[in-house]
Parts: sequence; structure tokens; C-alpha cells
Amino acid sequence: MAGPLVFALPGNDLAAGRLARALGGEVGALTVHEFPDGETYVRVDTSPTARDVVIVATLRHPNAVLPSLVFLADALRDLGAARVGLVAPYLAYMRQDTRFRPGEAITSRSFAALVARSVQWLVTVDPHLHRFASLSELYAIPTQGVHAAADLGAWIAANVTSPFVIGPDAESRQWVDGIAAAAHAPSTVLVKTRRGDTDVVESIPNIDDRRSCTPVLVDDIISTGRTMIAAIGHLREQGAAAPVCVAVHAVFAGESYSDLARSGASQIVTTNSIVHASNLIDVIPSIAAAVRRQLATFTESTAPGAVRPPPPT
Ligand code: R5P
Repeated sequence: MAGPLVFALPGNDLAAGRLARALGGEVGALTVHEFPDGETYVRVDTSPTARDVVIVATLRHPNAVLPSLVFLADALRDLGAARVGLVAPYLAYMRQDTRFRPGEAITSRSFAALVARSVQWLVTVDPHLHRFASLSELYAIPTQGVHAAADLGAWIAANVTSPFVIGPDAESRQWVDGIAAAAHAPSTVLVKTRRGDTDVVESIPNIDDRRSCTPVLVDDIISTGRTMIAAIGHLREQGAAAPVCVAVHAVFAGESYSDLARSGASQIVTTNSIVHASNLIDVIPSIAAAVRRQLATFTESTAPGAVRPPPPT
């Protein structure tokens, strides 16, 4: 059977081309245009009829991307695609996963419902899971979360002398352990208090017994950069060397990349889940493997004698 047809939403062409090659598929031609009034025009220029289709759209700017994603997925289904899946290397709206203050929208849930209404499966990289233990608690479609820990750990092992892996907060423990294991390095996590969007304080533990190591701060996301900047400040107060900052998702809101570069980081390194100048770690092969696994589950479930799942509603 031919490999999947891969469509890139604007800005995702490189990842889509590499995925199509890795999957033995082809890149589909697509036109996305913004009208003068801000409405979105989408045209599918390669027939998806009876094909497995993959949309590649990292969700760094989710509010801008969502209409194109929904319109494209709807069009592909209308045009007869066998199945439409989404590769979102960075999955947005994962951090407002509860009602922190009365009246707040739990946007993790609402966003998941919007995406799951449009596509039949989802592959992403290290989704920010905190109060939800797994993507399946949020998304009513098959999902696969690729773990970048091995890729981050391998980069650290190959590029940092005597690394000491440090997570900036308790939530980072889930990444720190895997990254440290892959880097064959010791690890710890700091205690973070976030008092506002850009007001973050870091404290304990002290690092006396690791002073000769190179601190490597690791996190899933760098957004405002305040978490990393506060952690750097805390480490420098204790006399640590300038840390290397390594993160999965290079969100970098506003001026945060230059703020972080000026704050005492010796190097800033991210994966290409979001295209950015700091990308040095390649997660496309891991994404391709996850997509292959996902497509294989459908092939198996439609094989002669297999029990077929109910059609999507
Ligand atoms: C929070 O729990 C996340 O793991 C990151 O630490 C956080 O999102 C980073 O955000 P910022 O760069 O805005 O401090």
C-alpha cells in the first residue's frame, strides 16, 4: 500500500517533507491564503481520495493555526481521505488544565475537543501533562506522545562535560529522570514558585557536592523564559558555572530568547518541534516512528478477520 499523503500547514514544510520521505509517502500540494478581511482560504491540490493523510502543524501560535487546521481536515474528509491524522510536534493549550481561579475556562479540555472533532489521530512530542496523567484523558481519539528524553540525553552526553541535569520545578521530574538516565548524569529538581506570568522564584536544593559539574537546566517548554532565568539566578548565587539550558519546545514568547541569552546561560538548545535558531536536537525520526506505529494500528484493525473499531462520529 502507498505511504501516506502529508500536508504541511504554512511553516511546517521541512518537517512534512522529511516525514513523507521517512514514511515512504509524498507531500500533498496545498494552498492556504488569508483574505484581506482576515478570513482563511484553503484548497487541497492533491487528491486525498482513499489515502491515509497526515497534516503537519506545530501549534506554536494555536489561535492563528486552528481555523486552517479545521478547514483543511474537513476538506480532506469531504474529498474522500481514508483517515486524517495530525502531527503537532508542539501541542498547545496543555497548561491550563484546571480551573486555578473561579470562572476560568479549562482550555486544555476545550482545545482537545476542537482538535478531536477534526482529526482521527494525533501524534505529538512531550505534551505538558500535569493534572491529566495521559493524553487519552483529554483526547477522544488515538494519540501518541513521543518522548524526547533520549534525544535530549544523547545530545547532553555528546556535548557537555560532566553534566549535572537540573529540572526547574517538581513538574519537570517526569522529564529530568529520563534525560539524566540517557545522559548517564546525576540529577535534581529545584522548587519553583510562580507568582505571575513573568514573576518566578527558584529555591533549594544547594548544589555544593556538584560544584565541579556543568549544570544543565532541562524543561519541556521555554515560553517567557522566566523559569529558566530564575533557575539560572539561583544556581549562580550558589556559585555554579553558567548553565546550559536544554528544552523540548522552543516557544520563546516575546523577547524571551534574548532575555535568556543575556541572563547567564552558556548555551540554549532546543528540539525542532518548533523551528527556531536554538534547534540542535532532531525529533523528526522519533515522530516518524510514532506515525508509522499509529498507521499500522489502522492497517491491523482493517485486516481480514480483525475486529473493526466503530466508525468515528
Ligand atoms: C511549567 O510547568 C513548564 O514545565 C515550564 O516550566 C514553563 O511552562 C516554562 O514557562 P516560562 O518559560 O514562561 O517560565
